Amino acid sequence: MSNKDIYILGIESSCDDTSAAILKNNKVLSNKIANQSIHKKYGGVVPELASRAHLSNIIPVVESAIKESGISLNDISAIAFTRGPGLMGSLIVGTEFAKSLGVSLEVPVIEVNHMQAHILSNFIDNGKKKPGFPFLGVTISGGHTQFILVEDYFKMKILGETLDDAIGEAFDKCGKKLGLDYPAGPEIDKLSKLGDEYKFNFPLPKVEGGNISYSGTKTAFINFLHNNINKNKNFIDENLQDICASIQKNLVDNLLNKVNFLATKNNLNSIIFGGGVSANSYLKNRLEDESRENNWEIFIPELQYTTDNAAMIGIVGYLKYSTSKLSDLKSTPLPRYSF
Ligand code: KG4
Ligand code: ZN
Repeated sequence: MSNKDIYILGIESSCDDTSAAILKNNKVLSNKIANQSIHKKYGGVVPELASRAHLSNIIPVVESAIKESGISLNDISAIAFTRGPGLMGSLIVGTEFAKSLGVSLEVPVIEVNHMQAHILSNFIDNGKKKPGFPFLGVTISGGHTQFILVEDYFKMKILGETLDDAIGEAFDKCGKKLGLDYPAGPEIDKLSKLGDEYKFNFPLPKVEGGNISYSGTKTAFINFLHNNINKNKNFIDENLQDICASIQKNLVDNLLNKVNFLATKNNLNSIIFGGGVSANSYLKNRLEDESRENNWEIFIPELQYTTDNAAMIGIVGYLKYSTSKLSDLKSTPLPRYSF
């Protein structure tokens, strides 16, 4: 690696957020995100609408990231983009934009795996201690729930994952049944703060080994609501905070049981979280308790780098650029991009 500073433009467009970031080496100069509120009224992401919104957002978001960073387009050393996993139409916008800009600026492009980026976002320089290898990487988002053995930046092995719904999906689907807007995770988090997490009990799925399941919880939750609404039509309104706190506890218990199992089995005491659900405040509190009990060292990215963002794509771009892991213009989107 030369002594010259490296400037990376990161681009993220895998789902419903269009984001662009500029990094100077491993530091973030700007990180702009255009959220797509259009999906709210549909209770989930509508792929066709997401691609269209990316098309109109991408240029303004990139321009705004460059402006805020204080650099100019010509300073950029390379462009990192999300190749997958994600929605095909959404990925196409970011991928093709990145490659076209790369050609016009005559700089290399670097493909990034979105799930690796959620983990590696913990390596963005924020003046705090960075994790050492090996560690257990836990990615918890709307599309994924994975437990990963991370031996080096790009040496990752999946130890277990969801057999059906992702944890964020479970938050969102349960929230939808309660009449909350998409994505319901942050709202459940907020409402739960005033609720009693022991008020209602939901069964915990029994899945052997490192995998996890959330679809049974969703079904149990729907049945629970039906039964109670049959008895009292105002059941949700009268118990909203307690229902939220109780289902949130169940979703987090399920996750922490697996984290415990896999950390013990693989002798790992450094645990890193990434993905939207790692913003959950109840999970963070529970992790504080668990880390004291089990001697774990926990790493969670800063809030702005937990949900989908381009700074996490930029840090992977920086790490790959530094080790000459560049891509070429044949790189096409991979909706199911595993590593
Ligand atoms: O990583 P992300 O932004 O996008 C995906 O790659 O899926 O994660 C979005 C997910 C959504 O399911 C959302 O409800 C959830 O993260 N989420 C939360 C919180 N903030 C976002 N879930 C629980 N508590 C939160 N505070
Ligand atoms: Zn994500």
